[in-house]
Amino acid sequence: MENKDAELIENIISLKERKNAVILSHNYQLGEIQDIADFVGDSLGLSQQATKTDADVIVFCGVHFMAETASILCPDRTVLLPDLNAGCLMANMITAEGLIKRKREFPGIPVVCYINSSADVKAESDVCCTSANAVKVIESLDAKEILFVPDQYLGHYISTKTDKKLILWPGYCPTHVKIQPQDITKLKLGYPQAKVIVHPECTPEVIALADEVLSTSGMCRFAQQAEAQEIIVVTEIGLLHRLSKENPDKKFIHTSGKAICPNMKLITLEKVLWSLQDMTHEVKVPEEIRLKAKTAVDKMLEIGRA
Ligand code: 13P
Ligand code: SF4
Repeated sequence: MENKDAELIENIISLKERKNAVILSHNYQLGEIQDIADFVGDSLGLSQQATKTDADVIVFCGVHFMAETASILCPDRTVLLPDLNAGCLMANMITAEGLIKRKREFPGIPVVCYINSSADVKAESDVCCTSANAVKVIESLDAKEILFVPDQYLGHYISTKTDKKLILWPGYCPTHVKIQPQDITKLKLGYPQAKVIVHPECTPEVIALADEVLSTSGMCRFAQQAEAQEIIVVTEIGLLHRLSKENPDKKFIHTSGKAICPNMKLITLEKVLWSLQDMTHEVKVPEEIRLKAKTAVDKMLEIGRA
């Protein structure tokens, strides 16, 4: 570790204590951010963690919808996002206005929104889901048809696991759609024994090559429990840091350097320090929206992990 980083980390830790703050990090964050976090997890784990903390301040190292979800669940805490430009490109593919219009076309049909959506969109939805519980959430609904937003590929994957009819929104994750089936088949030639774990935001052609389809923390659990010594990891590259740290004897192979979420990488140690120093940038959801969005998030949390 460089001296500069060591000094930054020392300053972050002492400020964190002084301000009674907690640092939550998504599994895609830079390694140095994951290493200073109090908790590293997937979207579901991070939401669950936010409800448990007794810290006054939550520094959210992730993207905007994740900080918003923490604010929805903990309105009395100060939720900080170290870089306001860290938005989720998929979440930005739907607006509340667009969803309201779509609901008018399909009256009476319940709406399930992927947690990768804004608080405004959550407020217009009946229940949320994450990649860790999407099928379970869909199955919990007493309806034959469901509007699912915004990820068409997660929606398509769920459709293969349920008899319910999902009406999809044309959103997608620009990072995950870059991964192509031939990226995996090529790697399988070099590592024929390797297990292939795929995130459900990938295209159906990529998912068809998976041994397991999992959320990011689901992948971490799989890596610890599986006998396989070689694992091809088909998701954003940041997860490799945690996988290798937790399983030093196993080999993790990434599909390609192109699966990088640029916005996840906007959070740096400097920005975490500035965030704590200046109490920036606060993410707060207006109360009227928050209460409606909370209903959808709470329903999901009651269902829990699959
Ligand atoms: P997870 O909930 O599986 O961590 O996924 C979040 C995400 O943004 C994937 O691109
Ligand atoms: Fe959003 Fe994709 Fe980045 Fe996940 S990887 S935060 S879905 S843009």
